[in-house]
Amino acid sequence: MNKSVDILGVSKVFPLESGELQVLRRNDFHVESGEFVSIVGRSGCGKSTLLRIIAGLDVATTGEVRIGGRKVERPSVLTGLIFQESRLFPWLTVEQNIEFGLHRRVEKKQREKAVKRHVELVGLDGFERAFPRQLSGGMQQRVSIARALINQPNVLLLDEPFGALDALTRIHMQNEVLRIWEVERSTMVLVTHDVDEAIFLSDRILVLSDRPGGIKKVISVNVSRPRDRSGVRFMEIRREIYTEFFEAASMSIEYYV
Ligand SMILES: Nc1ncnc2c1ncn2[C@@H]1O[C@H](COP(=O)(O)OP(=O)(O)OP(=O)(O)O)[C@@H](O)[C@H]1O
Ligand SMILES: [Mg+2]
Repeated sequence: MNKSVDILGVSKVFPLESGELQVLRRNDFHVESGEFVSIVGRSGCGKSTLLRIIAGLDVATTGEVRIGGRKVERPSVLTGLIFQESRLFPWLTVEQNIEFGLHRRVEKKQREKAVKRHVELVGLDGFERAFPRQLSGGMQQRVSIARALINQPNVLLLDEPFGALDALTRIHMQNEVLRIWEVERSTMVLVTHDVDEAIFLSDRILVLSDRPGGIKKVISVNVSRPRDRSGVRFMEIRREIYTEFFEAASMSIEYYV
């Protein structure tokens, strides 16, 4: 199945009361079917806007997005989206929250099977009946991941999914996402502020320029997985990305890396 994502000349301008704000500028990019791509860039450069356009939650001012060759015109159950903050329903249990994501047409027996499989996939066995308030932040994000995966989406979009987690839980969740990606083989597009996270997970990393966001650099991470976070190539890529950021801010990288 073709799970590729084509971003074709995508620009976005938001109308404001006093004029307009150009957020994205002519972005062209092809994500291979089954590829893991991360997007890094400074706050406000348009990363979430780009993800929302890919998800069909917002429209490009010019240009278009194609998934599997078909133009995105509205949200689809075949594109999963995970947000930074947990958007679980507090009054539903873990299994009810996960089932909520499932397409209505799936019949009861299949629903139960799908929910069970996804509870296991994200390692929440035993917590099926728990409510979100009874879970840790990392566990809540696992529920969000299961809910987004339950329709077996072709494309999974993740917008800073681990931003609210502590450093150790974050590393654990990165390993979990890799494991799930290896099982599910969805195409992944991850927005992150964490440069190490992008290097650890991705096949390629897009560095966006400051607003209006445009693709400034594409870095291929040719390192076999699982990756050594202190390996030589890892460090080189880290430096390459920070150099982009610090040059843009006219700061010397020497003090930071
Ligand atoms: N619906 C909207 N109407 C007007 N302006 C918007 C709208 N949504 C986003 N913006 C503006 O677009 C710009 C980019 O926002 P976006 O959320 O895409 O940034 P981002 O790169 O995801 O930032 P962060 O890293 O802080 O999450 C910001 O200046 C924001 O104010
Ligand atoms: Mg954002």
